[in-house]
Amino acid sequence: MAWYKVLKDGVMKDGDLFKASVENKEILIIKSKENYFATSLYCTHEDYDLSEGFMDEGKLICPNHFATFDPKDGSVVSPPEGSGDISPLKSYKTKVENGEVLVDFQ
Ligand code: FES
Repeated sequence: MAWYKVLKDGVMKDGDLFKASVENKEILIIKSKENYFATSLYCTHEDYDLSEGFMDEGKLICPNHFATFDPKDGSVVSPPEGSGDISPLKSYKTKVENGEVLVDFQ
């Protein structure tokens, strides 16, 4: 387990998406209500950058073909229309400590 600071608490608003760099890898930070979630950055359908996506009713939407993911665990809520199953996103633990958001990136 290794915790990395990714940004200051309070910078993101509910529904914001943020591309963070940890150990030379890019991940996605999601703010949903008072919670932070962290997932892999690229859509598992066709590698679209999910920091350009959006949140709708607590779910993460890829704007390319509208795959929908649960930010809590990266699971697929619905694949793009007409596509078969797609893989879930990777999911990372987060915590807030001393005014910083940290991600457990291993
Ligand atoms: S690239 Fe994300 S739904 Fe197709």
